Amino acid sequence: MSFDLVLFGGTGDLTWRKLMPALFQAWRHGKLPVHNGGGRILAVARDERSDDQYRAYIRDKFAGVDEAKKPSDEEFARFAELLHYRRMDLSQPAHYAGLKEWLDARGADTVVLFLATAPHLFPIICAQLGAAGLNGPNVRLVLEKPLGHDLASAQEINRIVRASFSEAQALRLDHYLGKPAVQNLMALRFGNALFEPLWRRDSVASIQITIAESIGVGTRGDFYDKTGALRDMVQNHALQLLTMLAMEPPSSNDADAIRDEKLKVLRSLKPFTADSVARDVVRGQYRAGAVAGQAVPAYREEAKVPPGSRCETFVALRTEVQNWRWAGVPFYLRTGKRLPARDAHIVVNFREVPHPIFPGKHQANKLVIKLQPEDGLELHLLAAKGTAHAAHGPKGHEVLSPVSLDLDFDKAFPTERVGGYERLLLDALAGRLNLFVRSDEQEQAWRWVEPVLAAWADDSAGPRPYTAGSWGPAAASALVARDGNTWAEEM
Ligand code: BG6
Repeated sequence: MSFDLVLFGGTGDLTWRKLMPALFQAWRHGKLPVHNGGGRILAVARDERSDDQYRAYIRDKFAGVDEAKKPSDEEFARFAELLHYRRMDLSQPAHYAGLKEWLDARGADTVVLFLATAPHLFPIICAQLGAAGLNGPNVRLVLEKPLGHDLASAQEINRIVRASFSEAQALRLDHYLGKPAVQNLMALRFGNALFEPLWRRDSVASIQITIAESIGVGTRGDFYDKTGALRDMVQNHALQLLTMLAMEPPSSNDADAIRDEKLKVLRSLKPFTADSVARDVVRGQYRAGAVAGQAVPAYREEAKVPPGSRCETFVALRTEVQNWRWAGVPFYLRTGKRLPARDAHIVVNFREVPHPIFPGKHQANKLVIKLQPEDGLELHLLAAKGTAHAAHGPKGHEVLSPVSLDLDFDKAFPTERVGGYERLLLDALAGRLNLFVRSDEQEQAWRWVEPVLAAWADDSAGPRPYTAGSWGPAAASALVARDGNTWAEEM
């Protein structure tokens, strides 16, 4: 297979921070189909540069990459042969015609157009690509979030995309779906028979999804302040994780079989009302504090953030999936910046034994699915530690003690781990759509978060403050405590 991958926004943050390192890894792992006919990566941006100048620009950017993922000089020189550069003014039809000529001259089997630009450029780029005939059957378009800031704007983008590209050509990328741990969630649920009978309301008491970040908003203050944690993390990443956890087993491993089931979950989520937002959603904003022993400023003191900002940097919410499998089981989602650690995990809390025969209060079983920084599974069980002495209960009784079965996938598969962007870029080139979000899923996710956005717009209270380095406002603990639950770190 030969391919041309065109990166619009070729000098932007996403390209050099995520896409180029991922492409380099794919190349290094021998997974980029560059043999027999080869592949080209064309970066497109506004300024004038030669191919060699662009290659030098990317080489310099690799200086910031983790040591293990850094190319040697010799490796970079070989990888750089794939890189090309083209100046384009994205409003100029003639520049798209020029791009088409460049691509047609070679006639690669597959052309992937990756929009790594600012999202306000998506409509114009899509319309121009269609007008220039850069939407043939061998072309795929990859769109990276944010895709809209509410339902209407997402629908408008989808309408424009659909005018030139079929659904199967338009790949909406959510990089969480590329994470190995998310693949493992599918494998855990649908490659093993063990958990399926337990994966329902009869055995599961509650589910928690946490995506905690220790970083603040960094240099993205202007973007973030218009976005907030609900749009930035919940509408996409957290909801995608929820759909994978709650979906029914798909009839096959095909993209649409999976996406149909995910869509059903999104449609089954309990709709919010103004009252339930007040009760079941907590928003917070970090104040100055310390993370990992380092003093950090308040969100409102970050660069390009207005001093009186009401933007949320933390969200915790409670929802339910209203169907036979999950009725009444609380699903708690939580995400925030400047929390104590970078830590994303899911906790499936199982119900207590129906009739306890061992003395003492014991924690029920739980399954912890660790997404990052480690990728693994922990199954928390109870085991007999020995018999009690008089001080610890009736003499001669078994004392149960918590133990856990730990699986570390980074250790189990040390050489085969593929990063999220690497996986998704390879899938885009191969036309595997399983891990891309379909437009109806994306719109349904917006439909579900909209009442929260509306209720917040009408609520003068604003986000609750939390100290940077803490687990968010106290109200987030109260939210789960109301059901008699606690967050994993409080157990
Ligand atoms: C992005 C958000 O989608 O995901 C960022 O825009 C966030 O605000 C990032 O930091 C988190 O991704 P990861 O892979 O580092 O957990």
